[in-house]
Amino acid sequence: MCMSRSLLYFEDGYLVAKSGDVSVYKMNEELFLEIGPGHNLWTLESEVYDYIEQLGDKPKGNCLEIGLGLGVASRCILTYPEVTHLTTVEKNKDVVQTYGQISPLLDRSAKAGKWAPYDADKHTILNIDGLTYLYRTKSKFDFIFLDFYQEIDEDSLPLVIDMVKASKRVLNAGGIIMGWLDPYTPEDYIYQFNELFK
Ligand SMILES: C[S@@+](CC[C@H](N)C(=O)[O-])C[C@H]1O[C@@H](n2cnc3c(N)ncnc32)[C@H](O)[C@@H]1O
Repeated sequence: MCMSRSLLYFEDGYLVAKSGDVSVYKMNEELFLEIGPGHNLWTLESEVYDYIEQLGDKPKGNCLEIGLGLGVASRCILTYPEVTHLTTVEKNKDVVQTYGQISPLLDRSAKAGKWAPYDADKHTILNIDGLTYLYRTKSKFDFIFLDFYQEIDEDSLPLVIDMVKASKRVLNAGGIIMGWLDPYTPEDYIYQFNELFK
């Protein structure tokens, strides 16, 4: 008898980048980012459609993003014509390293029409903790995108509150701060999360 099972990226896919305990797998033309011990999935390339929907028409001017991950959201933000520059702050040096390794693969996804091509000179990636950066920088931003948590829960919400507070210090008048709302966020946290950005 033939038993079918759903595909697992770390068994049915293959490793395309690795640095320290950060690994990126590819399966069915999609990338999957793991951070930490075990198969701890942080982000996947197919979330690009959720990013496009959530970002809406918000990104413009001088933009800041906290959390690089696979760099999918970065690429989405960079394709907006009104975006003049994007600074992406990532605390994990191995994530920054793996991004360098997968960049040519993401460029190929652009060629396959997943997202529009963009000017790479508009992108700066810094390896520093987001909160530290926000309290040290002299720059001001028109749009700030927070996506540095794995899920929204009682552990991550206090960190998001701190990051929003710090982000307000560096936001230009009329600027927008938004956070990535994971589609699987439990109902209890959605209201609290959304309130932070009002
Ligand atoms: C969910 S992933 C980001 C996904 C990303 N938006 C994408 O498109 O692939 C979260 C990232 O935030 C990083 N991170 C976590 N805490 C951080 C902090 N305090 N400052 C900067 N980066 C942080 C993690 O290392 C991880 O790479």
